[in-house]
Amino acid sequence: MALVHGSTTVAGVWGWPVRHSASPAMHNAAFAELGLDWVYVPFAVDPQGIGEAVAGVRSLGIRGVNVTVPLKELVGVHLDDLTPVARRLGAVNTLFWDSGRLVGDSTDGPGFLSALGHAGLRELSGRIVVVLGAGGSARAVVDALAGAGARVLVANRTREKALPLLELGAADVVDWSEEAIGDAVSRSGLLVNTTSVGMVPDVDGMPPVPAGCLRVGMVVVDLIYNPPSTRLLRAAREAGCVVQNGVEMLVRQGALSFERWTGVTAPVDAMRAAVLAELASRTH
Ligand code: ATR
Repeated sequence: MALVHGSTTVAGVWGWPVRHSASPAMHNAAFAELGLDWVYVPFAVDPQGIGEAVAGVRSLGIRGVNVTVPLKELVGVHLDDLTPVARRLGAVNTLFWDSGRLVGDSTDGPGFLSALGHAGLRELSGRIVVVLGAGGSARAVVDALAGAGARVLVANRTREKALPLLELGAADVVDWSEEAIGDAVSRSGLLVNTTSVGMVPDVDGMPPVPAGCLRVGMVVVDLIYNPPSTRLLRAAREAGCVVQNGVEMLVRQGALSFERWTGVTAPVDAMRAAVLAELASRTH
């Protein structure tokens, strides 16, 4: 844990609740790794008090904030400006200062692309990608993939909720069925699960992805990190796919926020190690 001095700069994360967040462990490890006189603290912010919390950032001189569920869609109206991606998504996960203006950004999508790069997937232009889900995470992922030139096919249990993703650049919506998803995945090189199917406590949950459509060399990403390996990821590994859970996206979105605040390249290896240690400590 960082030592706090009179000179220490404060950053933090807002959620409601916030106690499950791995971000304090991750960012304090990053500050310690680089010897920066910063500290990162959790704040439980009642959604009804979000405007007062933003006023607090201004009056208390807080230099960086991450925003998580359920505040991401609520904070933007209280800020001086939004980055183009935050404006497109209607969601903010990072507050930072730019020339005296408090700006909202979303590093989730860029963090997702950075995590894909870590898995060896850098060139997405023209590739077919299947995204499962249509919530906030899916919006960030689809926006980033479409921006990188991928042809994104979306499947969601509630089909109507997937339609707004077409406005973010998704190419098509396919049915939430083994047949339709199997057909789409068979044509794709990357499958991304953004739903909570398979997440604790639903650890036996499996999206309707037939095992036969998963192939050697395909990349399968599950944004879930609890459990570390979902049924989907186990099936994908057995089929010879390259697999990645949600830890890397968590680390990479945090790294991009860190860089916005400090102007320093984030120590991603130290951040990943801190997240893994934090998550492991919870299961014991
Ligand atoms: P996040 O912010 O993590 O994206 P979210 O906005 O709550 O979370 O979205 C959850 C996603 O998981 C949605 O796509 C949801 O599907 P619906 O739009 O049909 O609700 C999906 N999801 C959750 N539980 C599911 C289940 N049991 N089967 C299929 N999809 C599920």
